[in-house]
Amino acid sequence: MIIAIDGPAASGKGTLSKRIAAELGLAHLDTGSLYRAVGVAVLRAGKDPADAAVAAQVARALRPEDGILADPELRSDEAAQAASKVAVVPEVRSALLDFQRTFAAVPPAGAPGAVLDGRDIGTVVCPDAAAKLFVTASVEVRAERRLKELRERGIPAIPSDVLEDMKARDARDSQRAVAPLKPADDAFVLDTSAMNPEQAFAAALAYIGSKTGLGPKR
Ligand code: CDP
Repeated sequence: MIIAIDGPAASGKGTLSKRIAAELGLAHLDTGSLYRAVGVAVLRAGKDPADAAVAAQVARALRPEDGILADPELRSDEAAQAASKVAVVPEVRSALLDFQRTFAAVPPAGAPGAVLDGRDIGTVVCPDAAAKLFVTASVEVRAERRLKELRERGIPAIPSDVLEDMKARDARDSQRAVAPLKPADDAFVLDTSAMNPEQAFAAALAYIGSKTGLGPKR
């Protein structure tokens, strides 16, 4: 049982995916953390994330099972920007594909299925997923959410910079040639601009229930 959840930065798909996985007793993979791990490794090596050959080499050497995905540095804004640069490189994407598909097919800890969230899960990684959600919100609402999150983590941020960074990442993610950010033809598009997290969660669960018959594990 595979559930694909895609969407742009700060759409709320990460929090939503985690909650859905917990509610339904499924494993969860935040695929953005794979691209972040590659971006951070390139930065740590003192190299440029836009250097395709370096990024591809780093991606091929990445062993996600070794705990790198839990590194707090992956959550930084530098990591996010580096991630979206390495993510345009086709060899980076193909190097990360196997890990994602294996996670989906054989979820860890014997879980009966998996929730994968990212940009291309419903379109490329798991096109046969039982349920596909595309979670989105206006760029202004997403920038506002990201700003709040940064402030809660004690990171000073300038609203106009956050908005500009968000637009730059949206542009890179949706205009790249390989696996661009877009809803799969058969995805359920959930626009959370005017929803709180509870409402988004309820709408997502109702959709997944209608596609898979899965309900809360009690
Ligand atoms: O948490 P947030 O939505 O800000 O970002 P993320 O999901 O951690 O993804 C970071 C970057 O990785 C994105 O901007 C994409 O460029 C890239 N990514 C991707 O290309 N494909 C995925 N399946 C997941 C992330």
